[in-house]
Amino acid sequence: KKGGFRFYMEKEIYEQFDILKETILGRNTEDGIKFDEVDKSFFNGINNIIISACGTSYHAGLVGKYLIERNAKIRVDVEVASELRYRNPLLTKDTLFIVISQSGETADTLETLKMAKEAGLKTLALCNVDNSSIVRVADKTILLRAGIEKGVASTKAFATQVMTLWMLSNYLGDINEYEAINSAIEATKVDTALHEKIKRLSKRYLHGHGFFFIGRDIFFPLALEGALKLKEISYIHAEGYPAGEMKHGPIALADPELFVVALLSKNILYEKTKSNIEELVARDATVLTISSEFIEMTDDFVKIKNSNHPMIEFFEMMVITQLLALEVAVRMGNDVDMPRNLAKSVTVE
Ligand code: M6R
Repeated sequence: KKGGFRFYMEKEIYEQFDILKETILGRNTEDGIKFDEVDKSFFNGINNIIISACGTSYHAGLVGKYLIERNAKIRVDVEVASELRYRNPLLTKDTLFIVISQSGETADTLETLKMAKEAGLKTLALCNVDNSSIVRVADKTILLRAGIEKGVASTKAFATQVMTLWMLSNYLGDINEYEAINSAIEATKVDTALHEKIKRLSKRYLHGHGFFFIGRDIFFPLALEGALKLKEISYIHAEGYPAGEMKHGPIALADPELFVVALLSKNILYEKTKSNIEELVARDATVLTISSEFIEMTDDFVKIKNSNHPMIEFFEMMVITQLLALEVAVRMGNDVDMPRNLAKSVTVE
């Protein structure tokens, strides 16, 4: 059932190329984005958006904030559902309430959705499981079409969440990134030579005092997600951090035993991120850079294809961070699909 792969998670990483084609089918058209599930009029009168989610789905929501604010010029707040739920938030009727969930059963996310509905907000779910609790409560649902995800560490569902938010940002902003969307999907094809390289590299990253994943803009939430993947299955401490924020504290941790995975986009804030990497190298941190632009100074370098769109870089880097987490965990001898202390869906508080 794992189709020759060692773990479901590995299979799901490799599946992303095909899955994403499903996610955009009939939606990404040459004439722009179409969603059969929601009529444009549903969005009338919306002045801002709140996104509520947990874990990986929350990270996808953060990417969505950058994309929707940039492409559709609508203000977006992204909230961790377990916080939003208990803080009596200010909910106004001109706000669209979006929940993101793979399972559709996450208790905290579901409760925030009910709360928003009671307050009279329009609600939209981005969800992978039809007829789940969240889908039944939300006014409208856009299904993610990721298929069943078995690995406790979410990979392909995250890919479909980000893709759906990207399409939504095009839809709301009336812009057309048809070609870029198709190219981003191409970028998720796993290159076996690259996978082998990551397998080899992973050896170096086992015995330190922890990881930082750093990036700017959309690569900051990707850094958060890369760190979450690694800690879930390798049990090594990892943090995602905005690259420009390292100097405000965490850089104090830098020494050769501090591992840094730097997401260096050619298209967004390249020079600024590069100088953040330089600062870490100067303080002897062990740095692995992922970029299309070769930089000599870091200990390791994984090259992505040269592209002019940050979302294409995003999807290629996403796969690399997933493979890195996988290979570090495998070297640690862990059961990648059944990490200790975790359940696939969190239906309790
Ligand atoms: O099913 P959901 O998307 O609502 O689940 C949310 C989180 O529990 C989930 O993303 C969790 O963080 C995963 N283990 C991440 O890999």
